Amino acid sequence: MLSISAEDFLFWKKKQLSKGGDQEAFAVLLDCIGGISSSDQSLISINRGGNLHLKKNLEFLESTWNEHLLNSCPIQYLCGITFWRDLELEVTNKVLIPRPETELIIDIVFNIFRKKSEKFLFAELGTGSGAISIAIALAYPSSDGVATDIDRDALEIATKNYINSSKQSNLKFYCGNWWSPLESFKGKLDLAISNPPYIPKDIYEKLPKEVKNFEPKVALLGGDDGLKHIREIIQKAPSFLKEKGWLILENHFDQGEKVKQLLIKNKFTSIEIVKDLSGIGRFTIGRYK
Ligand SMILES: C[S@@+](CC[C@H](N)C(=O)[O-])C[C@H]1O[C@@H](n2cnc3c(N)ncnc32)[C@H](O)[C@@H]1O
Repeated sequence: MLSISAEDFLFWKKKQLSKGGDQEAFAVLLDCIGGISSSDQSLISINRGGNLHLKKNLEFLESTWNEHLLNSCPIQYLCGITFWRDLELEVTNKVLIPRPETELIIDIVFNIFRKKSEKFLFAELGTGSGAISIAIALAYPSSDGVATDIDRDALEIATKNYINSSKQSNLKFYCGNWWSPLESFKGKLDLAISNPPYIPKDIYEKLPKEVKNFEPKVALLGGDDGLKHIREIIQKAPSFLKEKGWLILENHFDQGEKVKQLLIKNKFTSIEIVKDLSGIGRFTIGRYK
């Protein structure tokens, strides 16, 4: 640990931020590599008299920040870590950086399965870093989960993240196209969740370079209208869900109504478009019959 006065640290921080970039990314760098949590960062600004302890020296933090500014590489990939809900997850450019808005999926699950002692079987399709599945598996220790992805490298990271976050063994990982690795779970799932690639092709082409140049295309692109994968997931879901089993999907900001229609067409009931904290219809949920 390296000790530095709060005054010197704040002077250095101001200099770094004057080069560009946003406060949020800088806070992630300090938290993930520097070892200074967001709450410590707020305390320092109030109590400038003290000292603080860094896990890495300022030169190292500065060179990482410079690399981020120069290439627009997401700071989470440079740090190799991201925080999501109360999880610390390894991330590389083989997995999407789990987004803060996706955190609400877990609250939707909490609203459906109200007791933490509940026992259910869930599947997550397209797990990426494993964030969603790991959070559910940890919250419901009596439940079992299966998480899939088409990308083996992503599954390797998800598995590592699960091992690092949990002492349990109630989550298993499978590789393959959407439902195909889950044949043996047909008719058995109480809940299926997916945050699939849903960006329409024309929007994908115009994504900011920090997303398009670094995050995996397979995690983002949802075909011409963005609904290619959502359609496939909904059409096959009835074979895998139990009667009254739930399907929760994340979708693009303007896809809620279309996803709702797809659910109706495939005989889902209790359909609801759930808004995120910005008031966007970000999730569409339903029960199979
Ligand atoms: C938007 S990312 C979501 C990752 C993670 N669940 C999250 O919320 O941060 C979509 C994930 O779906 C995976 N994927 C893409 N096409 C797939 C397919 N045909 N079958 C299974 N997984 C797929 C990608 O590799 C990626 O990890």
